[in-house]
Amino acid sequence: MTTILQLLVSPRPNSISRRVARDVTGRIAALRPGARIILRDLAADPPPHPDAGFYAAILTPTPDDDPCFAASEQMIRELEAADVIVIGTPMNNFTVPSTLKAWIDHIVRIRRTFRSTPEGKIGLLRDRPVVVVIAHGGYCGDAPPAQPDFLTPYLRAILATIGIESVGFLRLEGLARGPAAVARALDLAQSWTDCELPLLLRR
Ligand SMILES: Cc1cc2nc3c(=O)[nH]c(=O)nc-3n(C[C@H](O)[C@H](O)[C@H](O)COP(=O)(O)O)c2cc1C
Repeated sequence: MTTILQLLVSPRPNSISRRVARDVTGRIAALRPGARIILRDLAADPPPHPDAGFYAAILTPTPDDDPCFAASEQMIRELEAADVIVIGTPMNNFTVPSTLKAWIDHIVRIRRTFRSTPEGKIGLLRDRPVVVVIAHGGYCGDAPPAQPDFLTPYLRAILATIGIESVGFLRLEGLARGPAAVARALDLAQSWTDCELPLLLRR
């Protein structure tokens, strides 16, 4: 049985990243009958920011069952259980929203999901496909008024740190530029789901 972890970030009820991430999850579930979906809603249940106890536990070897790792363990176990991960997130100020960053601070954990070696960090999780649906108010790219994108390289690097390399990005751009731009973004999302998603799932 396939397990899909669906991570939703936007707090907006009519969020487009939520809508498209749910569509993508539905498509994966249709391809993998009997799939189980784990929902982690970071807007409804934001992960706590790392506090002093969490820093202390990270900086000295601490058992995984220490209470300060309770939230971290729960979120890592959801990741470990997932065969496919779907993340629906807005771009905030050129990068990930702070709730998604807080989740990352819990799941990228030394001695648990990566180890540190003189050659660099080595991921401890098995690879699996990740679809990242990103909602942008504006546009990225090279031509003005394009904006820088620190989100996709950051997520690629952070997931690779824990061993996850098979990452596909579905961009929804220009969502603050009126209904025609939204319709265009949704058309492109449909094409991505038809063409790119099956290739990503085969990796
Ligand atoms: C605090 C904040 C920062 C934002 N920063 C960016 C940005 O850097 N680039 C961008 O294209 N859109 C930016 N936006 C717009 C959102 O990405 C856009 O409205 C998106 O559609 C929201 O996602 P949703 O439809 O899933 O709720 C920002 C919105 C907020 C509230």
